[in-house]
Amino acid sequence: MKLSTCLTLFFFGLTASICNAQTTIQLHSGDGSKNPVISKYIYSHFAEHLGNGIYGGFYVGDTSTIPNTNGVRNDVIAALRKMKIPALRWPGGCFADTYHWKDGIGPKDKRPEIVNKWWGGVTEDNSFGTHEFLNMCELLGAEPYISGNVGSGTVQELADWVQYISSDNKNPMSALRKENGRDKPWNVSFWGVGNEAWGCGGNMTADYYANEFRKYSTFMANSGGKIFRIASGASDADYNWTETLMKNIPHNLIEGVALHHYAIIDWGNKGPAINFTEKQYFQIMQSAMRMEELVTKHSAIMDKYDPNKKIALVVDEWGGWYDVEAGTNPGFLYQQNTIRDAMIAGTTLNTFNNHSDRVRMANLAQCINVLQAVILTDKAKMILTPTYYVMEMYNVHQDATLIPLTIKTDDYTLGTDKLPAISASASKDKAGVVHISLVNINPNKAEQITINLGDIKPAQITGRILTSAKLQDYNSFTDPDKIKPAPFKGAALKNGDLNITMPAASVVVLALN
Ligand code: AHR
Repeated sequence: MKLSTCLTLFFFGLTASICNAQTTIQLHSGDGSKNPVISKYIYSHFAEHLGNGIYGGFYVGDTSTIPNTNGVRNDVIAALRKMKIPALRWPGGCFADTYHWKDGIGPKDKRPEIVNKWWGGVTEDNSFGTHEFLNMCELLGAEPYISGNVGSGTVQELADWVQYISSDNKNPMSALRKENGRDKPWNVSFWGVGNEAWGCGGNMTADYYANEFRKYSTFMANSGGKIFRIASGASDADYNWTETLMKNIPHNLIEGVALHHYAIIDWGNKGPAINFTEKQYFQIMQSAMRMEELVTKHSAIMDKYDPNKKIALVVDEWGGWYDVEAGTNPGFLYQQNTIRDAMIAGTTLNTFNNHSDRVRMANLAQCINVLQAVILTDKAKMILTPTYYVMEMYNVHQDATLIPLTIKTDDYTLGTDKLPAISASASKDKAGVVHISLVNINPNKAEQITINLGDIKPAQITGRILTSAKLQDYNSFTDPDKIKPAPFKGAALKNGDLNITMPAASVVVLALN
């Protein structure tokens, strides 16, 4: 990677710098009273019964020699607590619309073994079910987000599940829960009403699904407290899907509409997770950064029907999707995670922050050992990926107040194509600390950035950076700490502005006290 050069000129006692790159950012701090709060749920995750996501990833069972608490790996619990995981979506994905929750309760030796039809055709022994998931969420300090089965389930089955989990009244479902060892109900607000109803969730049309949603959500009463019902949303730019749901579902029955968008080159030719070319990097970033357009356009449709922004846009699946690693089961979606993934995570989270008036939850796909994972495990070993560190660095934005910004940035060009080199977002937390997260996606050039802070007058600036010599670098089980955040010293105040030299392909988070 080349470092950007600044030529400093001295004339008439004045100095001026001419840099070969320049980005300017203006923060619009104001009094902040009208700015949205960045929901912590934007930093949520997704765990499906897929490959080694649950089994071997989160859960090893309580007889395992791998240190665990009630079967959940202790190393995973510690890492995810440190990252501050706010919510976890489960059990799918496509798996959700084949999942019958009563298979996963009661004595384990009585639970039926089923075939995981979507993911590798492997046997699912149902040893990880409702109790195991909800108890695990308590250990993680994460709120559960349960995806209900609409594709192959019934209204009664989903209504019973809600009651089983959250009812404290006398009724057959809470009696069954007590019989299975849990006296007090759990507090579950987030419920998905099916998943990808346009595809693996039942191949429905938007009109048909809107009617199904109305029916299911009518019977999903949470006697314990609030319920947040999330409609299976559009894939990518299917704006008709969002429009149909917003128009046809009464707004007292729905709290969120989903959207799924993966960063992918081509479904038939996804390219490798590690040894990719710069062209493949550029293509993935083009796809990832399309999130900005998708969120803007889906939000505009929602604004038409819900101008007060009562209903949330929930991006409950996002991330990079590549070819599986050689020698692994193609149905397990196991891929390594490089600096490229840090670029995807940093830019996408900036987009979500900047649209936090409407985007109030997002779930990275997926948490462990699947797609753009934050954790990879190999038996007793565990490593943290570059994506983990971006999530951990950005957690300062959770529940902070957005500071809107405008940005004028150089392009990162490849051939005749171009992308904005710098992405940014900013917020002020409850203690008054301002955080600015920046990503330079250009792998070939450092960038000089000037941030006009408006009326923010910091006494002290600290920062952390995540980068590596090559885009293709990654943490492995033999070199687990190759990539991790380091202190960042490249920011300085000058005449009230913040001047930053941002290395190529890097993520920086600054704290202004
Ligand atoms: O995350 C993997 C799969 O991608 C999910 O099961 C499905 O919802 C999506 O198509």
